[in-house]
Amino acid sequence: MAKKTWSDRFEGSLHPAIVLFNASIGFDIELIEYDLTGSAAHAKMLAHSGIISVTEAEQLVAGLEQIRQEYRQGQFNPGVDQEDVHFAVERRLTELVGDVGKKLHTARSRNDQVGTDIRLYLRDQIDQIRASLRAFQETLVALASEHVETLIPGYTHLQRAQPISLAHHLLAYFQMAQRDWERLGEIRARTNISPLGSGALAGTTFPIDRHFSANLLGFEGLYANSLDGVSDRDFAIEFLGAASLIMVHLSRLSEEIILWASQEFSFIRLTDSCATGSSIMPQKKNPDVAELVRGKTGRVIGHLQSLLVLMKGLPLAYNKDLQEDKEALFDAVKTVQVCLEAMTILLSEGLVFQTERLAQAVAEDFSNATDVADYLAAKGVPFREAYNLVGKVVKTSLAQGKLLKDLTLAEWQALHPAFDTDIYAAITPQQVVAARNSYGGTGFEQVRQALAQAKLCLEVEG
Ligand code: ARG
Repeated sequence: MAKKTWSDRFEGSLHPAIVLFNASIGFDIELIEYDLTGSAAHAKMLAHSGIISVTEAEQLVAGLEQIRQEYRQGQFNPGVDQEDVHFAVERRLTELVGDVGKKLHTARSRNDQVGTDIRLYLRDQIDQIRASLRAFQETLVALASEHVETLIPGYTHLQRAQPISLAHHLLAYFQMAQRDWERLGEIRARTNISPLGSGALAGTTFPIDRHFSANLLGFEGLYANSLDGVSDRDFAIEFLGAASLIMVHLSRLSEEIILWASQEFSFIRLTDSCATGSSIMPQKKNPDVAELVRGKTGRVIGHLQSLLVLMKGLPLAYNKDLQEDKEALFDAVKTVQVCLEAMTILLSEGLVFQTERLAQAVAEDFSNATDVADYLAAKGVPFREAYNLVGKVVKTSLAQGKLLKDLTLAEWQALHPAFDTDIYAAITPQQVVAARNSYGGTGFEQVRQALAQAKLCLEVEG
């Protein structure tokens, strides 16, 4: 039977099944480094405020650092009888430094302690995810630089719409990742607020200095209300929202890669470093990386839902339900990280654009039809009238198995006298793309500027 954790108010011990049920050590061990850092800052604050002596604080900090070394060397492996990482650390500390270890929890509750740990953890993870987003963006920019003049069909409704520069397509994902990076920066600021010193819910009777511990831990502010401090998980929900958006963006790219790799599209070829075979069909090469990213997106979105539902019925302040926030958060963090990493590898070495096939694709359709209408409109024909005329010529061309470029000048002029020989140059895929030189458009000049802008942004913002 496990050793009794609680005060002498309790006479019996927990049922063994309930010990297991109650324990979070199996997953909150993930927080240990942050718990040690938070506890060291708390101990220093206690000495600074005259609540314990400086020598006592030094003993506590040395003990905490020793636990850190033990953990890093794989020698600290608390079991379920320790309930959670906070108890496990406190117990080991007391073993290491003796009775002074029992002073660590003065003027603190596990409620403000776990809140501190989780924020320190998430702040760190946000920084790592932002660095991974940067690596992903670098890869997009490198790939886009190679493909400014590579054309690819642009789609709406998954129907060929207008040809575009492949770099323009890739840079759309750069922009999404840029917003993801910025969003995480904003969420980091709201995560980086100290709840330490909120106590169990109401503050503490000791003359603590919350600013002191917050400063030591690099927090940029303090929770102004202790009830809010111990029960707020907004920052985690916001993070899961941002993580879900990152995954949605990666998932859309994945979906495109899966389509592009199909025999029907054949816009890319998967290299052997990121594709897998089938156990039965020897001809197959599967886009597993992209499929897994698309699949894992559901997990992260699920975690966002979990936490929202977890919070919606909780009265103030701390409730044990909050222990359920961790696995969702940890799994989302890990999933986003591995997916960003995998997609960065996939883009940098896992696929090759089939430029000949792409050139053929943009030359064999009616995606230059808008440009015929624009051509007439530029010569004074009202756009709607021009649009209807072109609709007619598309219909007859389809029936005759011809493309617009195959029409003779006589045929063009029979349609409208404003047509001249320059119509042929106006409807080549290159010209169709080049002509869309409006800000943010696919025109090569615009794409080159967007690319330069993207590079600058990576340089300046780091
Ligand atoms: N393991 C707990 C959690 O993750 C720590 C806080 C426990 N607080 C309490 N009042 N029982 O939420």
